Amino acid sequence: MPIETCTAQVELIKNLTHDVRQLDLRLIEPRTIAFKPGQFVSFEMPHPRTGHLVTRAYSIASQPSRSDLITLLFNQVPGGPGSSLLFDLKAGEKTQFKGPAGHFYLREDPGRELLFIASGTGIAPIRSMLLANTERPNPRPATLFWGLRSQRDLYYQRELAGLIGQTPTFTAITTLSRPEPGWSGESGRVLRLIEERIASVKNLAVYLCGNSAMITDSMHLLQKKGLCPIYREKYYDDIGSPED
Ligand SMILES: NC(=O)c1ccc[n+]([C@@H]2O[C@H](COP(=O)([O-])OP(=O)(O)OC[C@H]3O[C@@H](n4cnc5c(N)ncnc54)[C@H](OP(=O)(O)O)[C@@H]3O)[C@@H](O)[C@H]2O)c1
Repeated sequence: MPIETCTAQVELIKNLTHDVRQLDLRLIEPRTIAFKPGQFVSFEMPHPRTGHLVTRAYSIASQPSRSDLITLLFNQVPGGPGSSLLFDLKAGEKTQFKGPAGHFYLREDPGRELLFIASGTGIAPIRSMLLANTERPNPRPATLFWGLRSQRDLYYQRELAGLIGQTPTFTAITTLSRPEPGWSGESGRVLRLIEERIASVKNLAVYLCGNSAMITDSMHLLQKKGLCPIYREKYYDDIGSPED
């Protein structure tokens, strides 16, 4: 799949929480885009502080079968060039990006069950993989562990319940690290779920996406439980490095 420059129009803006926004972009040129579930697109923009051009990558959160539209998810990062660019886009406005790119995508790994582990907006590429898996004639048994902070950070819960209803071999657990009183679901970080619920990784293919400490800590835990393919996607934060 070659990397293309794409023009798209903002079709839908949805505030999922107080600081997470979903953006649906309809492709104009080309009209469709072929990508693998888990890949990303990137935007170029001037850094608000230095004026230098910087690039920011966002995973495609929608599934490849919807090739005329891509969904992106982002946190609003104060002063972050990428999220500022995306956050300022209005419905109907046009934007350009390059893509698809990236090696974090759903593999075949015949015979292996899928374990997805995400923190925060790291759910974006994993959502694409989950939707693609559900559309397969025989979806692979899959488990999602997703770590968020508190009740006000929850989103996509109804959608996940819908996927569970559609695919009996799919399990999703959202765990809150800082729940407010009244939460009856799982609490703690995703690491707790790995420790308590995964006895062996022998028959698994694992996909990790989110903040880098979560990825490193999860890798250590998983490696203690045996050998299996582990795929991961780390994003730098939108603040940018000092030389940006
Ligand atoms: N938007 C996209 O397309 C996209 C795609 C791929 C990746 N990403 C990246 O995904 C990341 C999401 O940020 P975030 O995960 O930090 O979200 P967050 O909303 O800041 O945190 C989510 C959860 O991660 C937990 N956490 C922090 N350190 C952890 C660790 N060492 N082990 C386990 N859990 C840990 C937090 O627990 P505590 O409350 O205890 O801190 C919290 O419950 C960002 O770095 C973003 O760049 C985004």
